[in-house]
Amino acid sequence: MSIPPFAYPPPFNTTRASHSVITVKDLAKSRAFYVDCLGFIVSDEDRDTLYLRGLAESCHHSLVLKRGSEAQAQRVGFRVFTEEDLDKAHAWFSKAGLPAQWAEAPHQGRTLHVSDAVGTPLEFCATMDRKPRLIVSFEHHRGACPQRLDHFQVLVPDVRRACEFYLSMGFRLSEYISPDGTDELMFVFLQRKGNPHDIVFAPGAGPRLHHAAFSLPESYHFFYVCDLAADMGFAENVEFGPGRHGPGHALFVYMRDPDGHRIELFNTHYQTMDIEDEPVRWDASYAAKRRWQLPARRQWYTEASRFAGLEPREPPRKGSPMTLEKYLGLED
Ligand SMILES: [Fe+2]
Repeated sequence: MSIPPFAYPPPFNTTRASHSVITVKDLAKSRAFYVDCLGFIVSDEDRDTLYLRGLAESCHHSLVLKRGSEAQAQRVGFRVFTEEDLDKAHAWFSKAGLPAQWAEAPHQGRTLHVSDAVGTPLEFCATMDRKPRLIVSFEHHRGACPQRLDHFQVLVPDVRRACEFYLSMGFRLSEYISPDGTDELMFVFLQRKGNPHDIVFAPGAGPRLHHAAFSLPESYHFFYVCDLAADMGFAENVEFGPGRHGPGHALFVYMRDPDGHRIELFNTHYQTMDIEDEPVRWDASYAAKRRWQLPARRQWYTEASRFAGLEPREPPRKGSPMTLEKYLGLED
């Protein structure tokens, strides 16, 4: 099997990963974690909702926390360039026989709710309310100084199907990991904005939201935010890292919020947008060989946020990743 081609011109112009919407059980606890510890900026809040953005973002929100009785993911959001693109997206999803309906979302322009071919609930909008960028407003810089949303990772039982679908939507495959000697697509990194990824698909019961990732300005902030997390009683929330990724070559640390939703903080991404840029293949063994941090705990591979109302489907076969538990000989 070969890598499927990407659609050019795209059926509609998706520009970037934009925002995610999740439900949390205790907004005050979430505020302490996201705002007081990680350093997110509050764009707006009311009794039931917290709208957050990074310091470099002029859009109203890149993370929406809603009060709910269960901690779940609701949607991952993308931006399209124009209202016309939104209409084209509506027509394209409808023609594909996928759910597509207009919805009201505060602080956003017209919003389209759709599901992709593997069932991930998405929303698209072309505009949002504007807020000041706070890059040089240092009195607002706290914690990890999160700059902007970069990407999402979603677990799905059929990574190839997800990859083919996003390529048909005009996304480009920047990098992928395959088991040695196979064409199997195990991890795929897909992008529209010209850096390695806007959305990543990895194997697992799904669709479930594995994480949303926000960029940090300096490597120093990884250690500072971990120290601050420990000082504020969030030591257990630091799940994996700081470490270095193979694909994308970013520094990272993964944290779990008070409800278990996972956030990645990362930095350093390269540019990839030229017509002749080919997807970079990583053999699984090569990716493992370059890892200098300890492997992730099993939970990093298996735990993720369920989407509201969706029962995850199991993959046809279980993966066998090198977990920390395996590495330490604590399990086979
Ligand atoms: Fe990530």
